[in-house]
Amino acid sequence: MDNVTVVDHPLVQHKLTLLRDKNRSTAGFRRLIKEVALFLGYEVTRDLPMTREHIETPVAEMEAPKLMGKKLVFASILRAGEGMIEALIELVPSARIAHVGLYRDPDTLQPVQYYFKAPDDIADRLVIVVDPMLATGNSVSHAIQLLKDEGANNLRLLCLLAAPEGIAAMQERHPDVPIVTAAIDSHLNDHGYIVPGLGDAGDRMFGTK
Ligand code: URA
Repeated sequence: MDNVTVVDHPLVQHKLTLLRDKNRSTAGFRRLIKEVALFLGYEVTRDLPMTREHIETPVAEMEAPKLMGKKLVFASILRAGEGMIEALIELVPSARIAHVGLYRDPDTLQPVQYYFKAPDDIADRLVIVVDPMLATGNSVSHAIQLLKDEGANNLRLLCLLAAPEGIAAMQERHPDVPIVTAAIDSHLNDHGYIVPGLGDAGDRMFGTK
C-alpha cells in the first residue's frame, strides 16, 4: 500500500503476538506496548535530517553524524497514545508533546473532542501523531486536521495496528501523511474494533476493564 510501512522485524512481530493475547496482564501489556513503541519510533525517525559535527574521540578527530535539529513533536491522541509516548520521549528526549483529547461516540463511532494543546511553533516541526489503533480512521483524521489547522504541514502517523478501513480513510483525507504500523489486520467488526486486533488498547493499558 502506498505510503504505509509495516515494520515486520521478528522482535516486533513476536511482541505484537504477546500483546494480542487476551490473557496478558495489565503490567505485561504496558511493558510490551513500550517495547514495541521503541522499535516503531526507530522506524518512523529513520530518515530524520542529519548534519556533521567536528568532535575529538580519545583517539582522533572526526566529522561525526548528528541530528540536524531536534524539531520534533509527538502528538498523543488521548488516551491510548500515552502508552507509546513514554518510549518515544526516551528516544528523542527534547521532542515537544502535543495532546489531542478525543473519544469515540460508541453509537456513531465519530470522534468527540475534549482537549487540544500543541506547541506554538508546530509549523516548523515534524509532527509524529501517535495512536496505537488505526480503526475507522475517524479520530486520527480529525486529530490530524486539528494539527493542520494549527499550522502543522509535515506529519506522520505511528500506530501499532491498522485496519484496511482506517488506512483507506487516511489515504482519502490525508494522503500526505505516511503511516508506520506493526501490522495491518483483517477488518473492523460492527463495533469498530479491529479483527483480530487486541481489544481496547486504552482499557488494556490502563486496566479499566
Ligand atoms: N480502538 C481500540 O482500542 N481497539 C480497536 O480495536 C479499535 C479502536
